Amino acid sequence: MTLIAPADELSAPPAEAILRRQRVRESAARTYARSFPIVPVRASGMTVEGADGRRYLDCLAGAGTLALGHNHPVVLAAIRRTLDSGAPLHLLDLATAEKDDFTTTLLESLPAEFADGARVHFCGPAGTDAVEAALKLMQTATGRRGTLAFTGGYHGMTAGALAVSGNVAVKEALPSGGEVTRLPYPFAYRCPFGLGGEAGERVAARYTERLLDDPAGGVLPPAAMILEAVQGEGGAVPAPDGWLREMRRITAERGIPLIVDEVQTGVGRTGAMWAVQHSGIVPDAMVLSKAIGGSLPLAVLVYRPQFDGWRPGAHTGTFRGNTLAMAAGAATLRYVAEHGLADRADRVGRFLTGELTQLQQRLPVIGDVRGRGLMIGVELVDPAGEPDACGARPADPALAVRVREACLARGLIVELGGRHDAVLRLLPPLTITDEQARAVLDRLAEAIEAAAREAR
Ligand SMILES: Cc1ncc(COP(=O)(O)O)c(C=O)c1O
Repeated sequence: MTLIAPADELSAPPAEAILRRQRVRESAARTYARSFPIVPVRASGMTVEGADGRRYLDCLAGAGTLALGHNHPVVLAAIRRTLDSGAPLHLLDLATAEKDDFTTTLLESLPAEFADGARVHFCGPAGTDAVEAALKLMQTATGRRGTLAFTGGYHGMTAGALAVSGNVAVKEALPSGGEVTRLPYPFAYRCPFGLGGEAGERVAARYTERLLDDPAGGVLPPAAMILEAVQGEGGAVPAPDGWLREMRRITAERGIPLIVDEVQTGVGRTGAMWAVQHSGIVPDAMVLSKAIGGSLPLAVLVYRPQFDGWRPGAHTGTFRGNTLAMAAGAATLRYVAEHGLADRADRVGRFLTGELTQLQQRLPVIGDVRGRGLMIGVELVDPAGEPDACGARPADPALAVRVREACLARGLIVELGGRHDAVLRLLPPLTITDEQARAVLDRLAEAIEAAAREAR
């Protein structure tokens, strides 16, 4: 393999040369780079500019990380201020003024019943490490091993986090499945029981309760239940509030700690500062990452004090005190709260889902439009396929890929997710303007129409 670019590449336009070198030098596991073969050189708010001068509206926003969009002035100012202050940038988990401020701001943003007396553990700066920490914490606290997790769930790529994720494809590399009991997540459109709606939701809760109480159900008392209030990678599937309250009741009555993974749903994304606030449930632990670092890497586990049975160093790591991320994160949390961006996400989210639902009448390849706030999924289906018991047609992943390409050609970045990767996932910054929301709809409609026409 050559590591130095051949002479012909050096004379090629820089973007093409960079992309070619990436293809040769980076791993076969690269992901978004395959979906979006562009070389961003500048970005501001929702707009990304490629090296070729083309501009894109970014509905991926760092997989939901960029609550304020790219390079928000408030975030940049916080980073600059910290840099200019001479504060140490890396300090393991030592105390700093930046960490103190971040912790205060974070705790103030969390629901009071949860935050009161809560403990914060700074993790390695990825959501997956905070998930690992949560599972280990509850194993230590309960002396049990097993975990209850849900179909369609996604919690990260490390072994423990992977074990509780539902996506079979990414679990193939795992040596052992771990002690995970998989439970049905309510999903109206593709109901695991073929019932849909409230009936599906009720059965999902009842099944969980009966299984846990069945002496022959095969489930040892678990260390924890982990769930997302809105499944992100699972295809923007919101859990009904009533079902979430049932999970809280069922776990509380049986002494099972409830971990809510808010890595993707947090910081206003679903139309509330934290997704648990829609249902009012008070979890035992919350896993937070993505937007809390204001575009820089940061992950924390927050939990009720009675679970704090860890010994010093029980979940350690080198990069647990990134000063810049804490400054950027605190600035982001404050800005979202002070500017009512959760409400804005709710309003724009309702507008987008409403318009997309209208579009569904005209475009039968749109099987389902769902989501909460600015976490929206548009599932693409084969309208000629046989419907299932709930009327859902088969997913059309090939069409989804063509739509993603057609979106990119029209200056719109939209990634796929969900079962069979057939769901267009809209995760724009919470700062999206009305004009940008309109442009997203126009480009998306055009792209779906064009890709569907191509298929005929
Ligand atoms: C709900 C949820 N949990 C955990 C993770 C893992 O986070 P990270 O990719 O930072 O490890 C993700 C990532 O998308 C996520 O959506």
